[in-house]
Amino acid sequence: MGTQEGYASVDGKRTPLDEGTVPITDRGFLYGDSVYEVFRTYSGVPFLGAEHWQRLLRSASLIQLRISDSMQELHAEVARTIAAWHKNGGTGDAYVRYTYTRGGGPINLYPAPDLLPLRVIIVKTIPEWPAHHYSEGLTLAIPSVRRNPINALNPFIKGGNYLNNVLGVLEARELGAEDCLMLNQKQYLTEASNSNVLFVIDETVQTPSVESGILSGLTKGIVSELCMSAGISFNETLLSVNDIRSATECFVTSTTREIVPVKSLRLEDGTLIRFPMGGGSITRMLRSSYKDYVNRYGQENIDSCLF
Ligand SMILES: Cc1ncc(COP(=O)(O)O)c(C=O)c1O
Repeated sequence: MGTQEGYASVDGKRTPLDEGTVPITDRGFLYGDSVYEVFRTYSGVPFLGAEHWQRLLRSASLIQLRISDSMQELHAEVARTIAAWHKNGGTGDAYVRYTYTRGGGPINLYPAPDLLPLRVIIVKTIPEWPAHHYSEGLTLAIPSVRRNPINALNPFIKGGNYLNNVLGVLEARELGAEDCLMLNQKQYLTEASNSNVLFVIDETVQTPSVESGILSGLTKGIVSELCMSAGISFNETLLSVNDIRSATECFVTSTTREIVPVKSLRLEDGTLIRFPMGGGSITRMLRSSYKDYVNRYGQENIDSCLF
């Protein structure tokens, strides 16, 4: 991998991405004992940088991990890491992933209170998603594996343990789909492996609520604002498979992928629900207004530009 692919900062030590290392006794490595965020820049501006930071602090507090950095300190090191990457052949906007692990120490599940968190920043080229995901749509399948229950490992925490999601997407691939749409223990819909799922039912955008056991996606939050401005009802609720049989559109949202239409959903009994290729009219409208939102955000937040 060349340095143009990306750069890392491990507690301030900056290296090409493939030379970044963490100690093997780090609890992030041993137990997934960490929290993280991913944001991207548009023309150098960290999109929703403050909102990602707030979500990280919330995740950290839910696992009793104390973060002593401020957002300004974090963003300053992100800017230095992007500068080092650009100096070594990287160009343009960045995918930025930052993780705080609980640090290293004795191999013992109980985290001693004096452990020092480790901060890992990865900056790299923004992934290019296959063009057909946007022009045609994603295929989803409901796997047999269920989303982690809220009272076990709450999906609301953006933590370093994604095994549940890995098992979901592995099974979806075996079922011939690109990604999963996981149900919870009570058979309500939750989310895809790393994106939120939304439907259009009776001209209303409907999506699983936090009570279903999901990550509260920031992209979905923007979609709710866009719906409100466009006079489209937006409803976060408990959704069952029966509720979505009459859905006319489906799409997923995430920071790096924005809004992606879904063209089919395979139910557990093998039934395929089909949605319009390339997204229906509401999905297309939201895709275009999301782009406008990003452009406005860039102009209004030019002061926070990282390079
Ligand atoms: C499990 C999960 N759900 C939803 C999302 C979408 O969240 P966001 O829109 O904040 O990127 C992500 C991506 O971070 C995720 O990992």
